[in-house]
Amino acid sequence: MSVLVIDQIGKQYEKKRWALQDFSLRLDGGVLGLVGPNGAGKTTLLRILATLLSPTRGTVHWNGQDVLRYPEALRRELGYLPQDFGVYPQLTAREFLTYIGELKGLRGPLLSRRINTVLEQVNLIDDANRRLRTFSGGMVRRIGIAQALLNDPRLFILDEPTVGLDPAERLHFREIISSLSAERLILLSTHIISDIEAMASEVVLLQQGHLFWSGTTSALLADAQECAWSLTLDVADFERLRDDYRMSIAIRRGREVDLRLVSSVRPHPDAIPVDPTLEEAYLFVTNNSHDSLTLAPQA
Ligand SMILES: Nc1ncnc2c1ncn2[C@@H]1O[C@H](COP(=O)(O)OP(=O)(O)OP(=O)(O)O)[C@@H](O)[C@H]1O
Ligand SMILES: [Mg+2]
Repeated sequence: MSVLVIDQIGKQYEKKRWALQDFSLRLDGGVLGLVGPNGAGKTTLLRILATLLSPTRGTVHWNGQDVLRYPEALRRELGYLPQDFGVYPQLTAREFLTYIGELKGLRGPLLSRRINTVLEQVNLIDDANRRLRTFSGGMVRRIGIAQALLNDPRLFILDEPTVGLDPAERLHFREIISSLSAERLILLSTHIISDIEAMASEVVLLQQGHLFWSGTTSALLADAQECAWSLTLDVADFERLRDDYRMSIAIRRGREVDLRLVSSVRPHPDAIPVDPTLEEAYLFVTNNSHDSLTLAPQA
């Protein structure tokens, strides 16, 4: 299994402002979900790992090789789906993949074979000869995955691959990622916690360029034990509470509101403790930035 070691990476686009700072992580397989608000540094990190951007500080090693000095070894084994992935609308799916494959140095029968394999993997083999301009947004995203898979990468990096997908395409996407995860290292960024729940074994939370929390999804849930509460309030009480707590659900039913919120203390005498969802654990951990410094694994 391949190993990616990121050591104290920092990136400054402009003087005095770090888009990414002191980021260290070791990855040796599975699916890593990178979560963080807009501008947290996700794309910056992923572009550094894809060797498209040089860090200002730090090192990256891929199977023991220094990636910044010798990027070729990683590049050969890399598949990358950028956040702003675009296609040539006038090409058919097969023509587009041929073009990208040739750019990656694949040729002839090997390239034809790989194109059929990746089209099967993303379930577009029956659409191979359709022009990309006739594809839905979800199908374009799948072509994006297909082009990144042409060289059968060991390291697969996807930057916000699920944005704008409808529920059926989202499910489809999750199935593709799960089918790919054996013997590959997959890094994907997302704003959607349920993506993490469905696909990732490990999660990294990034905030303002800092690694804020990392661990397994079950460790994230464990760190947020006894943080989630369920409560039904009348509308006036709800309005009083809403600015003081982070709510995960609020559903109005007539004059009452059914809600769930996160809090380290009981927020209301009627509140009932419930098992947190991953989304609630995320809300809790990111809301308690001071506490989180002591949120080291308790075991
Ligand atoms: N080329 C650039 N020049 C200057 N600043 C940049 C550049 N690219 C990114 N930044 C800044 O670096 C920070 C991190 O940006 P980045 O795109 O990595 O965040 P992100 O987590 O991917 O955000 P999003 O969720 O919106 O995609 C932001 O403050 C951004 O404005
Ligand atoms: Mg981004």
